[in-house]
Amino acid sequence: MPKQWAPCQPLIHRAKPIEMSRFEFLLSLRAIVGDANVLTEGDLSGYELDWRKRERGKALAVVRPSSTAQVAEVVKTCAQAGVSIVPQGGNTGMVVGSTPDASGTQIVLSLTRMNAIRTLDAANLTITVEAGCVLQTLQEACDKAGFLFPLSLASEGSCTIGGNLGTNAGGTQVVRFGNTRELCLGLEVVTAQGEVWSGLTGLRKDNTGYDLRHLFIGSEGTLGVITAATMKLYPAPKSQLTALAAVPSLDAAVALLGLAHQHLGAGLTGFEVMGQFALSLVTKHFPQQRVPFYETTPYCVVLENSDSESDEHARGQFERLLEDALAQGCVSDAVVAESMAQARALWHIRESIPLAQAQEGLNIKHDISIAVSRIPEFVRLADAALEAQFPGVRLVNYGHLGDGNLHYNVQAPAGADAEVFLRDQEGPINAVVYALVDEFNGSISAEHGIGSLKREKLEKHKSPVALGLMRSIKAALDPHNMFNPGRMLAASGVAPE
Ligand code: FAD
Ligand code: MLT
Ligand code: ZN
Repeated sequence: MPKQWAPCQPLIHRAKPIEMSRFEFLLSLRAIVGDANVLTEGDLSGYELDWRKRERGKALAVVRPSSTAQVAEVVKTCAQAGVSIVPQGGNTGMVVGSTPDASGTQIVLSLTRMNAIRTLDAANLTITVEAGCVLQTLQEACDKAGFLFPLSLASEGSCTIGGNLGTNAGGTQVVRFGNTRELCLGLEVVTAQGEVWSGLTGLRKDNTGYDLRHLFIGSEGTLGVITAATMKLYPAPKSQLTALAAVPSLDAAVALLGLAHQHLGAGLTGFEVMGQFALSLVTKHFPQQRVPFYETTPYCVVLENSDSESDEHARGQFERLLEDALAQGCVSDAVVAESMAQARALWHIRESIPLAQAQEGLNIKHDISIAVSRIPEFVRLADAALEAQFPGVRLVNYGHLGDGNLHYNVQAPAGADAEVFLRDQEGPINAVVYALVDEFNGSISAEHGIGSLKREKLEKHKSPVALGLMRSIKAALDPHNMFNPGRMLAASGVAPE
């Protein structure tokens, strides 16, 4: 007789799991997805270790379905066996939400084999795609068909549309197109009962009750498994111009943003700020990259102008904006890319910051949002408080200023042991930053989500009423706490006994 094994915990209000051995359980999974797609041995780091290397988990198995029907069967099998499921796309998440815990009792449900583009409806300006499709593959397919799919993140070569929806990812085009949520018109989801909700209507108007899609978007795999989505398309712009501007202060960067809105209107598709130390890390770790201005200015901004008329029109608008900004003193110097290659190089500088930061060592990330108008004041206060209380800390400040979203990150003092620094200082540093975020009515997670890294912080910074509503939704949709338990919401709070 194979050994009986305990179902995963903590599970609140679970139906009594049927008695099933590990052997029988894996056999059932193999019957659904095929032997080759139930991984239990070998190097599973790509599934078990998060991108930031903050936590290494242990999966009972990695299961790789190839269809929605298979996902539904896997979910039913897990429900019967009392095994919890961690949905996973590209595993590029920043908050330890897509890897299993260390118990060895959770399966990772990897959606990467479900990567087909199902249909493109040109007249409806929509594309329907499976959850495991890599974002860049989707962007390229849209581009080839003459459309723009605007979601853009530095991880686009490996993150998936299911993960983007699961986290409601932001990225560098939110100032014009919104988060992933705003780009989604419909979902297909496998529920905790193993049923399939087919909501891929592609409708822009539908007021027939609660909008279920919005519950699953940003739910970080805690409510159901997204298997496909219908996303919005936009006409490809005729011209896209990128500039890099040196700005003398964050106040100047905010003033430049105002001017950019005025001059470019809906043409303003990117507005990213980068602090001097963040840029210095790019030059340190990627010395082949040329980074203009950074040695002589505290901040630089990358701006993008997308134009539906012509290159000439875009360039004229951009020149008038920069002339105005220079005259008003909010820009001290600027370069406008002369070619696509130059534009890509400017964007590449911005996209390299998280990679350079990772190369520099373990770090503390703060993905915060605050009203744009108050960002300079916030940074002044936060910089001063951290420098006074934690001498030598290095502030890696950059992000999506156009959306009021800063990655206000903290790196250990030069030469310090980053692991020790994180162990001893992460809590106190977070306390300083998040107290200020509260004072400014901001958010402790603008775009990366909560996962397990920020779960306790959510309890502290979200209102009890909001948390109560979230728990009610979790209990209603996933009553046995099967999906990603302990992520986002504390397991004990899901459905009190
Ligand atoms: P994963 O990491 O695999 O999963 C993320 C979460 O979604 C988990 O909770 C998981 O359980 C859930 N999930 C995954 N697939 C599904 C599914 N099919 N159904 C239900 N739930 C699911 N994020 C931003 O918002 N903006 C940025 O600019 C940005 N830049 C980044 C740059 C770099 C270099 C890196 C490494 C990451 C960046 N991220 C950014 C974070 C990350 O890429 C995004 O969160 C992305 O959306 C995650 O996609 P993924 O497929 O890797 O999801
Ligand atoms: C970014 O904007 O580059 C990302 O959100 C990644 C990060 O914060 O490190
Ligand atoms: Zn970001």
